This record gives sequence, structure tokens and C-alpha cells, in this order.
Amino acid sequence: LATGTYRAAVIGCGKVGRGHAGSYRNAPGTDLVAVVDVNGAVCKAFAGEFGVERTYVNPVDMLEGEKPDIVSVCTWPPLHADLTVAACEAGSRVVLCEKPMALNLAEADRMLDAARGSGTLLCINHQRRFSARYAAARRLIEEGEIGELTQVTGICNGDALTDGTHLIDLTRFLNGDVSIGSVFGAIEMSHRGYVDPDGMGTLEFNETRMRYGHHAETGAMGLLFFENGVRAHLEIGILARGGYQRFFIDGTEGRIEVGGDPTGGRTENEGRLRLLRSSGDWEELEPVQEADPMTLSLRSMISVLEDGGDHLLSGESGRATMEAIMALYESARARKIVHLPFDYPESPLEEMIAAGEVPVN
Ligand SMILES: NC(=O)c1ccc[n+]([C@@H]2O[C@H](COP(=O)([O-])OP(=O)(O)OC[C@H]3O[C@@H](n4cnc5c(N)ncnc54)[C@H](O)[C@@H]3O)[C@@H](O)[C@H]2O)c1
Repeated sequence: LATGTYRAAVIGCGKVGRGHAGSYRNAPGTDLVAVVDVNGAVCKAFAGEFGVERTYVNPVDMLEGEKPDIVSVCTWPPLHADLTVAACEAGSRVVLCEKPMALNLAEADRMLDAARGSGTLLCINHQRRFSARYAAARRLIEEGEIGELTQVTGICNGDALTDGTHLIDLTRFLNGDVSIGSVFGAIEMSHRGYVDPDGMGTLEFNETRMRYGHHAETGAMGLLFFENGVRAHLEIGILARGGYQRFFIDGTEGRIEVGGDPTGGRTENEGRLRLLRSSGDWEELEPVQEADPMTLSLRSMISVLEDGGDHLLSGESGRATMEAIMALYESARARKIVHLPFDYPESPLEEMIAAGEVPVN
């Protein structure tokens, strides 16, 4: 494909925007033509770094002026729904929106409706599905290397919307995207008392209990019961053992351990994939990551545009992950199991906090 076949724009020139901008360099056919940030100085510096010609401080002006084919929505979550809808209405063929998809299911549905209406391919950036380690773990499960999959234990620090969204999304991926039948959850809202040295939207957490512009719990636990009988046990935030996107995967004839992310100092990050067969021997595996996950995801979007097919990070899949998070919150509020589909439009967490009804405070 000739460079410039697909004209791309990034909205939000922050940490993750940098990853998107880098990926556009590596995906054939794409050309990053414009970037937007409310902070004009940040935007200009970012454009200089990535050799982008045009900068905007207002996303609507950019969408009208550029009519980009591909839009990356890289702002904090409270803006994901409105910016995604605006990009669809401006005729973008692909919107790659950052996780978490939105703040609640009403917003997620608004995004899906807009994308269907305009024929836009909406993707939610749970890019770890394109990480060689998790992809290899999924293949081992699919090929029966651990017999029948029975249970997935997933661990991540942070909070359910910000970080648990990757954890739940990967759990669904590892189990072949089988539907979730029901969710049982608990949350804790204690004072964690740490300040993340990297920022990551947590600096204000101890004062406001907010991260990335929305409320967040300090810890969450979840049980997901999948339609195929597989169970998942999730540990999130202060209730998690050390690790980020770290999994213990049990089957009838073996076990896989995979994760966490290869970098990061605060938590235990093993960055490993190993397989225990029924013989009792562990095998260390080192699958090759041929390009970074975001680049692979972007290449796959181009392939869907050119040749059709589905994308692993589809908006529908993003919504299914969002539904599980909202069901976990609802279970914590109602103190009972929640059966899916769960269509409640608002965030039970936000409502619980507003009503002063958080169970463990
Ligand atoms: N997929 C991943 O692995 C991953 C990793 C990190 C962050 N994220 C997600 O990416 C999103 C952004 O996180 P971040 O860490 O990059 O945040 P950030 O604070 O570093 O960057 C956000 C940028 O958006 C800009 N902005 C705010 N309002 C805007 C508006 N109306 N129009 C244009 N720009 C605006 C800000 O000025 C800032 O530069 C969050 O949803 C976060 O959860 C995803």
C-alpha cells in the first residue's frame, strides 16, 4: 500500500498517544497527518517529534478540517464516547479508541451505534491480544496442550476500569471469547497511601479517589463464570498479589503461567511464558514479538479495511469486557451474583460512591 492511502490523526498527545503515533510509522499505508491536544505547546512538540504537519487544539476543528480515515482517541476516558461518536459522524473509516472503552454501558452503546451508523470499524485498544506471549498462551490452550481449560487466575495492580479492563479482556481472549454467564464481585475503597511514581493518572487518587477523570476503587475481586464452564478468578489493585497482567491458567492436563509486562518497577513483572505438562516438567517458552502489539493491531485494521473480516479488538468485544466490569461493580453493590447480559446504563461504582453505599470503605 502507498503511504498516505489512509490518513490518520491522533487526538490526545500524551503517553499513550505517543505509542499510537509510533505505530502509524510502522503500519504500511498509513500517514499521520494531524495531531490534536488542548495543550497547544504539548501538541506542537509532539508534532515536531513525529514529523506531523498540522496541529489542532480542538478535535472538532481537526475532524472537519482533515476528514481523516483513521482516528486514534487517546484522551482520558470521560471523552472517549463523545470523540468516538464525532469521528464516526465525520466519516472516519476506523476509530481506534483507548481503553477503557467508556465510563458506562450507555456510552459504550452510543459508540457502537455511531460506528454501525457510519460503517466505521471501531476498535478498543486492548492491544495485549497482539502480544506474542498471550497469543502463544491462547494457542497452547487451543491446541490442547493443557487438556481442557478449567480455570484462569488473573492478577493486576491498579483499578478495574484502568487496568482490570486489560485483565478481563485477556481472560476472555484466553478462553476463546466465549460469553460470560455470570459475575460475582467485591470491591474495596481503602486509602492505599501510595503515589505512583509514573503518574499514570494516580497522583490525585488519595485526595479525590479518582484516576484518569473517573472514580476508582482501591481493590477489586471477581469471579467470572463462562458459558463453557471455565471459571476465572481475578485479583485487582490492592487485593492483588504482585504482578501486572499475570495469569495462572489451569487445565485438566497441565498449567500455563504467563505475564506480566516486561517493564515496570513497582510490581513483580516476570515477563514469562511457561508450560507445565502432565509429565511434571516446566518448559520455558520465548515466542518472538515481530512488531510491537499496537503496530500489529493497526496492521490488522488495515487488513480488515482492505480484505474484510473481523478485528480482535472490535468495539463489540470492548463492550463485552466493559459489561463484565460493570457487572462486577453491580455484584459488589447488590452483594449477589449478576447474570449476564447486564445492560444497566450507568456505572454502579459511580452510583455507589454518590450514594455513600460502598460496602468496604
Ligand atoms: N492501551 C494501553 O496500554 C494504555 C496505556 C496507557 C494509557 N492508556 C489509556 O489511554 C488514555 C490516555 O492516557 P494517557 O496516560 O496517555 O494520558 P495523558 O494524560 O498522558 O494524555 C492525555 C492527553 O490528552 C490531552 N487532552 C485532554 N483533553 C483533550 C481534548 N479535549 N482534546 C484533545 N486532547 C485532550 C491532554 O492534554 C493530554 O496531553 C486513557 O484512557 C488510558 O487509560 C492505555
